[in-house]
Amino acid sequence: MDDAATGSVRRAVLKDGRLEQALFLTVSGRLPPRDWLAGLMAHETLPPDDRMMLLAGRPAILRADVGTQVCACLKVGAKTIVRAIGEGALDIDAVGAATGAGTSCGSCRPEIARLIAGHAKPKVRDAA
Ligand code: FES
Repeated sequence: MDDAATGSVRRAVLKDGRLEQALFLTVSGRLPPRDWLAGLMAHETLPPDDRMMLLAGRPAILRADVGTQVCACLKVGAKTIVRAIGEGALDIDAVGAATGAGTSCGSCRPEIARLIAGHAKPKVRDAA
């Protein structure tokens, strides 16, 4: 999978359902955890959910309470995005860098913008 928006490339080779090789190239330097990939290679047959996460380039830990799905491409929920906003991701690209949301087809970017507008803390101005 090539993602022109982020400049990332993800490749996986499965043989008889087993993950044999994986290649991830990024401009951002955000790579999937090595231990997670090693665990995927330990499966005799890679489960369908793990195949999806492999394409997304991130482990399935986001299955926890992530809120309503906002980004269908990368399976990112509203709570994950709001958490990223609270940690300082104050524009769509920053949210994308933090969560992956909005970095593929881009159709979720307006919803990400709404979440930023609704959850970003206003900047404190100097009183002077
Ligand atoms: S739905 Fe978010 S990038 Fe496609």
